[in-house]
Amino acid sequence: MEEKREQWGSRLGFVMAAIGSAIGLGNIWRFSYMTYSNGGGAFLIPYFVALFTAGIPIMILEFSFGHKMRGTAPAAFAKVKKKFEIFGWLPALASFGLLTYYVVILSWALSYVFYSFGLKWGEDTNAFFFGNYLQLSDGIWNIGGINTAVFISFILIWAINYFVTIRGIAEGIEKACKVFMPVLFILSVIIVIRGITLPGAIEGINWYLKPDFSKIWNPKVWIDAYGQIFFTLSVAFAVMIAYSSYLPKDSDLSNNGFITALANCGYSFFMGFGTFGILGYMAHTQNVPFEEVVSQSIGLAFVTIPKAINMLPGANTLFGVIFFVALVFAGLSSSISLIEAFASGIIEKYNMPRKKAINLVCGIAFIIGLIFVTKAGLYFLDIADHFLANYIITAAGIIECIVLGYIYGAHKLREHANAVSEVMLGSWWDFCIKVVTPVVLGISYILNIKADFTQSYGGYPWSANFIVGWGAVIATIIVGIMLSSSKWKKDIFVDVNKEVQG
Ligand code: PHE
Repeated sequence: MEEKREQWGSRLGFVMAAIGSAIGLGNIWRFSYMTYSNGGGAFLIPYFVALFTAGIPIMILEFSFGHKMRGTAPAAFAKVKKKFEIFGWLPALASFGLLTYYVVILSWALSYVFYSFGLKWGEDTNAFFFGNYLQLSDGIWNIGGINTAVFISFILIWAINYFVTIRGIAEGIEKACKVFMPVLFILSVIIVIRGITLPGAIEGINWYLKPDFSKIWNPKVWIDAYGQIFFTLSVAFAVMIAYSSYLPKDSDLSNNGFITALANCGYSFFMGFGTFGILGYMAHTQNVPFEEVVSQSIGLAFVTIPKAINMLPGANTLFGVIFFVALVFAGLSSSISLIEAFASGIIEKYNMPRKKAINLVCGIAFIIGLIFVTKAGLYFLDIADHFLANYIITAAGIIECIVLGYIYGAHKLREHANAVSEVMLGSWWDFCIKVVTPVVLGISYILNIKADFTQSYGGYPWSANFIVGWGAVIATIIVGIMLSSSKWKKDIFVDVNKEVQG
């Protein structure tokens, strides 16, 4: 039975897919606004600390766990203890939730590839994005129907996701990532070279690299840094557990973990030169202080970058196309992994043919996603993202560290990794899993709960945060319980004793 498990075609294929999942909108769009809103260089120190104390250790933990159990997250946790299956469904469902709106942001990027021709966003890129394009309504409960422009891109993006995942691991995901990643790399090099050679770029880059030590004592900067590391590395989302379950028996785990995490964060750091170089150029051209050119959060990629593209001395359309195609390519390999994280769990649990599971997962995600394609979509997206990230993902991360660190035993996974890897893990690794990560995530959990109960998130009406935000959290838990209490259609527990103790 286990012999029939799908497998990656090659080590390179697996690494490309893992890097493909990690590199996404988070590296270009989210990384730049996180860095920007947390004071530039001040953010980079906590960011790299988070990478080494949580990101890399958890990446290796998930690779070892998926590989050792040869199962997707629900099955892997169920093999530790049947009652723990839910701990695998929660992150898998969080991936599903993220998928429903991640695809929508990708759709915006795709629309912007087309708007690059002739710089259709005009002079006022802010009014264009929120008004002309998103047609944002005046409040969340004014839903206002489907937005046609977004919807067209939404269908195209879904079609690509569907046709890749339906073909399976080696034939679909691996092949797609082997095309997306190299192309993305070339486009990114072009973006960075253009960015750093513009007049005034150095001002932006200085701002990007210069640490502001007064900010470093602010806990928010640290929480954002750890949150960004989890998001950007796709850990605690069931993705990496599923991906590593398709590895052949004798695969190097620790090295692959280091490569994936370092490639991902190196890529973000590298792209930062491009983005901040361009922003520096804008400040220089407009003759205003650096802080004034940037619109925060979502606006950075869809408002500030288009504005910067308008100002380029030449080849504006070409640069626009390169930037937004890069965003689309980066994001597609991530959305594919989000589909796989959940669908693979269903395939395994219900012994369902891949085709049926993909139809089901994509179909439901498409329908739920329509709410984000409405004119109030941005509000829904913002709330759903805040609550899923802060309550489901953070909880999944803490639980993973506790269950695998203490109950199962971090040392067993360390020994498993050491048996097949070149780089040897020491007890520092156990410490990161058992202490550092759960403590940091625990603190951020408490601070978030406190903030969300004293103040309505994002200034939205309480009703919206309650229904959309807590609604999404509660729905995830209920569906998780339902999935874990239904019967396994496949006997994954045959050789469970051998695997768990080994
Ligand atoms: N890591 C992806 C990004 O940075 C997002 C992602 C998170 C993908 C979790 C899969 C799972 O955009």
